[in-house]
Amino acid sequence: MTTKTIYVLNGPNLNLLGTREPEIYGHDTLDDIAGKLDDHARALGFEIDFRQSNHEGHLIDWLQEANADGAHAVLLNAAGYTHTSIAIHDAIKAISVPVIEVHLSNPHAREHFRHRSYVGKAAKATVAGLGAESYTLALDAAAKL
Ligand code: DQA
Repeated sequence: MTTKTIYVLNGPNLNLLGTREPEIYGHDTLDDIAGKLDDHARALGFEIDFRQSNHEGHLIDWLQEANADGAHAVLLNAAGYTHTSIAIHDAIKAISVPVIEVHLSNPHAREHFRHRSYVGKAAKATVAGLGAESYTLALDAAAKL
C-alpha cells in the first residue's frame, strides 16, 4: 500500500517564523513545525510534503500539483495572500483535493484588513489561533477526510 500524502503549503514571510513577531506567531521556526508535523503524520499513517514560498504563483502551482498527484488533502497557510488573493481562491475552487485553511494567529481578532479571507471562502475548513497546534489539529482533521 502506498502512503497517502498531505501537502502543507506555507506562504510569504512564514520562513521567518521564530524571529517574526514572536508575541503573535510564537517561537517555533517553520522547521520546528515541519518536524512535529512529520512525526505526527507518520503516526497517523500519512506522509507530508511541507513547502514554503514567498511567491503567490508557487502556491497556485503547488495546489494544482497536489491535485494532479492525488494528494489526500492540503493544509494551506497562505499568510498575507489569504486576505488578497483571488487567484489562490480560484485555484482552490478549481481542484478537487480538500484544502484546510490554517493560521497560527486568529486573524478575526486582529486588524480589520485580516478579517476577509479569500482562502476561507473556498476552503473546506479553517483552523486558526492556536499557534503551531493549528497545524497539528488541521492534520488530524485532514487524516479523517
Ligand atoms: C497568518 C495570518 C495572516 O494574517 C498573516 O498575514 C500571516 C500569518 C497566521 O498564520 O497567523 O502572515 O497566516
